[in-house]
Amino acid sequence: MRILSGIQPSGALHIGNYFGMMRPAIDLQGAGEAFYFIADYHALTSLRDPVALRALSRGVAVDFLACGLDPSRATLFRQSDVPQVTELAWILNTVAPMGLLERAHSYKDKVARGLPASAGLFTYPVLMAADILIYDSDVVPVGRDQKQHVEITRDLATKMNETFGPILKLPEPRIQTATATVPGLDGQKMSKSYGNTIEIFGEEKETRKRVMSIVTDSTPVEAPKNADASAIFQLFSLVASPNESAEMRAAFEQGGRGYGDFKKQLFAALWEYFAPFRQRREELLAQPDHIDEVLAAGARRANSAADDVMGRVRQAVGLR
Ligand code: TYM
Repeated sequence: MRILSGIQPSGALHIGNYFGMMRPAIDLQGAGEAFYFIADYHALTSLRDPVALRALSRGVAVDFLACGLDPSRATLFRQSDVPQVTELAWILNTVAPMGLLERAHSYKDKVARGLPASAGLFTYPVLMAADILIYDSDVVPVGRDQKQHVEITRDLATKMNETFGPILKLPEPRIQTATATVPGLDGQKMSKSYGNTIEIFGEEKETRKRVMSIVTDSTPVEAPKNADASAIFQLFSLVASPNESAEMRAAFEQGGRGYGDFKKQLFAALWEYFAPFRQRREELLAQPDHIDEVLAAGARRANSAADDVMGRVRQAVGLR
């Protein structure tokens, strides 16, 4: 089984990325051949600062390793180290129906939030399909917001196979129900572009401030509170044990404790959960050569897998 996923280096990684994709991907790394990459071509649709893009790309590699990606079991690489993927994206573009792309909600959302409506942003799902198809991927662990993109990938693969014969494998999205959409500080989906994130490796003071700023309703301290409707409880249940979560749920329902109190408890649990990763990250930051080696070895393995599929595609469409 081939497992593949990607993450954009468009800002600091947050706990939505961690619980939605990184942890499920890390859990799967022993279950087959895992390919995880840093989507720097995709990040160009929103980031136009070469120094920042380079630094953030490397930062994602460090952070992913710190969170438990094991380079002896999973291939970690930069998307742009396999430029063949843009060739496959072009070929997919030639069969991609406009209507299919026009229905993609992430394009509409991004433009509504002020990102420039470039052709690259519009065809973003086609490059993402190429990312997935070029490695003959079986399973794609992602958060819920990427589900439609995997469906578009399946549609494009089907279209190619109908047109040129059976050359591309159809992937399945793998979405963890409990962490499919991690809420942000305002209760909406946690997202870099909504400014509602808690970073995995944020500074202590800033992280505490962010947790304390989680938006709550005006239920008085004494009154019972709805745990399921609260981002505090939802985030707590990601980092606490089942017993601790059950206790917090009971305390919500009983009343008598204020939201501020629950936020302090959330911060403490969150800070503790990521402590071993912070430690590992410090060690990794002291070994820049190791990061370079991991990315170089990853690029070699990814290139070899991509060349297999591209050979097949070029042959089938008539380019060789
Ligand atoms: P990106 O960089 O926005 O996010 C990386 C992963 O994190 C997940 N995620 C979340 N999951 C749950 N709750 C949240 N609040 C949350 N926020 C982010 C995303 O679902 C994603 O899995 N287009 C992709 C990158 C990409 C890709 C690919 C992924 C490019 N090519 C090929 C898979 C396969 C993206 O922008 O993810």
